Amino acid sequence: MIKIKVPATSANVGVGFDCLGLAVSFYSTVSFEESSTRLEITGCPTEFQTEDNLVYKAFVKGCDYLDKPVPNVKISIDTDIPVARGLGSSSTCIVAGLKAASVWFDNAISTDQLLVLATEMEGHPDNVTPAILGGLCVSFLDDNNRPVVVKYDVNTQLNFVALIPNYEVSTREARKVLPKTMRYADTIHQVSRCAVMTKALEAGDADLIHEACDDRMHEPYRAKLIPDYAHAKAISEQSNGTMYISGSGSTLMAITANEKSAEAIFKNASAAFPDWKIRKMAVDLTGVQSEVIERGKVLHR
Ligand code: HSE
Repeated sequence: MIKIKVPATSANVGVGFDCLGLAVSFYSTVSFEESSTRLEITGCPTEFQTEDNLVYKAFVKGCDYLDKPVPNVKISIDTDIPVARGLGSSSTCIVAGLKAASVWFDNAISTDQLLVLATEMEGHPDNVTPAILGGLCVSFLDDNNRPVVVKYDVNTQLNFVALIPNYEVSTREARKVLPKTMRYADTIHQVSRCAVMTKALEAGDADLIHEACDDRMHEPYRAKLIPDYAHAKAISEQSNGTMYISGSGSTLMAITANEKSAEAIFKNASAAFPDWKIRKMAVDLTGVQSEVIERGKVLHR
């Protein structure tokens, strides 16, 4: 059996619209094993237990890339990551399927090629790159639509608290509310803060993170899609956190300098939003991981 563990990802990280993505310690685990039938899928609603399942489609894409016949497979999905909440759930499916195809055929897909195939499927690199590489990734597509990725360290003293609403925001709708152009002055505001943010995360400088994390590209427009945005931001700031919309929402992510501040946000947000999931997280520095298990014994990682 092949077991693939993929971290959730938080794209944009406030000021890095469509180019920053952070892997966090919140996971999907997907197992793949030989089956007597063409395809069995468990661990997701029945309507997704078909050949259109994104994990399976990615597995097939990986096999096709390697020019190998698609094996009969049983896929078991075990995930904490909710859909349409800005935590990269579709990227975890894509990365799990592609990585499983690679491991199935003796790790035949290189990491660079995994990045290319996953980006092709997802359409943009900001979630798939940290899901594969871990940490904070800055990425763009070159003129041939291939991802160019730089990985930054994130200081492990930083704590993250995800406030996950009990309502969804669709990325398509969240892109429709954005304006088509941006003023020069706002662009300078944004570019300078994005560059500072990467270094501030690396240094673990919570004050600098707070100063840099002031977005003018998407949050002012998307905040209205998240009715509790202002309330959640106030809770985060009361405890010295810096809050941003994770991906296109609806999750709101707070970054804090220490465990005490994360605990305060966790407690206050849990009281204010009893129907939400509030989760404390750390940065995931590893990205996708795989294990090959036979008769309960791990053979390789
Ligand atoms: N960067 C994308 C957006 C992430 O904000 O629309 C969505 O997955």
